[in-house]
Amino acid sequence: MKHLLILFWAALAVMLGLSLSMGNTFEKEYVGSDACKGCHVQEYDNFMQYASKSKSDENVQLMMDKLTPEEQRECFECHTTGYGEPGGFISFEETPEMGHAGCEVCHGPGSEHAFTGDPYLIEADLTIEEHCAPCHDDDRVRNINYKPLLYSGAH
Ligand code: HEC
Ligand code: HEC
Ligand code: HEC
Ligand code: HEC
Repeated sequence: MKHLLILFWAALAVMLGLSLSMGNTFEKEYVGSDACKGCHVQEYDNFMQYASKSKSDENVQLMMDKLTPEEQRECFECHTTGYGEPGGFISFEETPEMGHAGCEVCHGPGSEHAFTGDPYLIEADLTIEEHCAPCHDDDRVRNINYKPLLYSGAH
């Protein structure tokens, strides 16, 4: 009986550990472009210097006073990193490092990859439809008359 009990508790502990570690695997969070800098200096420097995305927070901040809270939230969807998602943008005061549209708007939330350096844990196989069109949507492309190419505006 005593042995059975020990076995029961051991099995429970293993199951608990398993479900915890599985939970962690699925919980990808946004970490911000600065977290990529150390291992990808060249992409980071190019992005910060040449991509207008790296300054997309400035464009919105200039207009904040003239916008209703609802309009502001709309801007955040496209001009910041991970708005409303785990680890993502909350406000310019609370999460200034997520204020621009950073690396992760194209490559997806990078917590696991930035922690491990494992290339399989980050999105690199990108397409216009899936990874760009959420922000560069059809309406915009029609109105602004501008549709980006896959390799443009990155690094
Ligand atoms: C601890 C170091 C480290 C950090 C931090 C890191 N990476 Fe990486 N990354 C790597 C290594 C190592 C590779 C594989 C070799 C390579 O392609 O440079 C890689 C590859 C990649 C790839 C290509 C993957 C592929 O399948 O070809 C992308 C995209 C990428 N990283 C994006 C990011 C982004 C975005 C961040 C920040 C959220 C980031 N990395 C942070 C180490 C890191
Ligand atoms: C989260 C929203 C979002 C996603 C996803 C997104 N973009 Fe953008 N992109 C923006 C915003 C916002 C700007 C304008 C920044 C500004 O000027 O304030 C922009 C600007 C650009 C520009 C203008 C030129 C420049 O200097 O940066 C290009 C090109 C571009 N994006 C390409 C792409 C491509 C290619 C993809 C997909 C691989 C993509 N974008 C995905 C939001 C996004
Ligand atoms: C659906 C996504 C989306 C939303 C919502 C959005 N933007 Fe943008 N914005 C973009 C993209 C993408 C660009 C880059 C130009 C392009 O391709 O349309 C851009 C460019 C800009 C520019 C730069 C124009 C230039 O000539 O450099 C400003 C300023 C701007 N947006 C302000 C705002 C403000 C303020 C809001 C909120 C009221 C907002 N945007 C909402 C996607 C968006
Ligand atoms: C506008 C979208 C976009 C943004 C923003 C972006 N990337 Fe990329 N990235 C791409 C595309 C497209 C590729 C090429 C993927 C392929 O080969 O299909 C790529 C490839 C990579 C690779 C693989 C090696 C290479 O250069 O081909 C790394 C590493 C990488 N990106 C890191 C970053 C980092 C770090 C940032 C932020 C500083 C960043 N990316 C921002 C679109 C983007």
